[in-house]
Amino acid sequence: MPRTRLIAANWKMNPPPAGWNEADSPYRPRTGLDVVVFPSFVDLDTCMKAGLTAGAQCGRSEEKGAFTGDVSMRMLKGPGCRYVLCGHSERRKFHRETDGDVAAQAAAAFALGITPVLCIGESAEERESGNAQKKVREQLQNISFPVVIAYEPVWAIGTGKSADPKNAQEMHAFIRSLLASAEGKRTRILYGGSVNEKNAAGFLAEPDIDGFLVGGASLDPAAFRAIVEAAAQRP
Ligand code: PGA
Repeated sequence: MPRTRLIAANWKMNPPPAGWNEADSPYRPRTGLDVVVFPSFVDLDTCMKAGLTAGAQCGRSEEKGAFTGDVSMRMLKGPGCRYVLCGHSERRKFHRETDGDVAAQAAAAFALGITPVLCIGESAEERESGNAQKKVREQLQNISFPVVIAYEPVWAIGTGKSADPKNAQEMHAFIRSLLASAEGKRTRILYGGSVNEKNAAGFLAEPDIDGFLVGGASLDPAAFRAIVEAAAQRP
């Protein structure tokens, strides 16, 4: 059974793109392919009520408490949130989330039946010093339950400098090799980092790349539609 491809739109701190709620919106679910949007918290409920498959951009592992500004996984479960990003590099950078925090978030989400999309990836310095695999191995420690993995090299995010599909494939195969064999076959590993309508098909031709986490290009409905269409074609 081939793994169902997953194309995710990470809208970050932006409103939903124009036309997101139209009948033929590229952000809507479709058959044979999972399309998931990650709006800001204020737009999450609206998107879910409109029939989109939506996830949160982050969530805390604690159920409730004195964590001003934060939202717990338990709170996300209430309105029916299906996915949550865990450990996006911008959370790691701007909110100092550690691998331990991220593992706890993913475990809390999984326990509630929310699919964690675990974001991992090395910095430019780590790649240049030959430590990229060491980094992703560390980031995967303590993850002993099913997740979707998003491999997002930090140097490729929002820079317009995407990874080369062959290099990304090499890392995806390495990540898969770190998972227990049955789990490895099932786990969807997405690529993220400057994916656009021009480079999407090249990545999708690689056997271990199961879809994308798209940032910038997901805000452009035409570009996102082209990415979704590329993923809908299966050889
Ligand atoms: P980008 O962002 O596509 O703009 O590089 C990807 C991400 O941050 O998930």
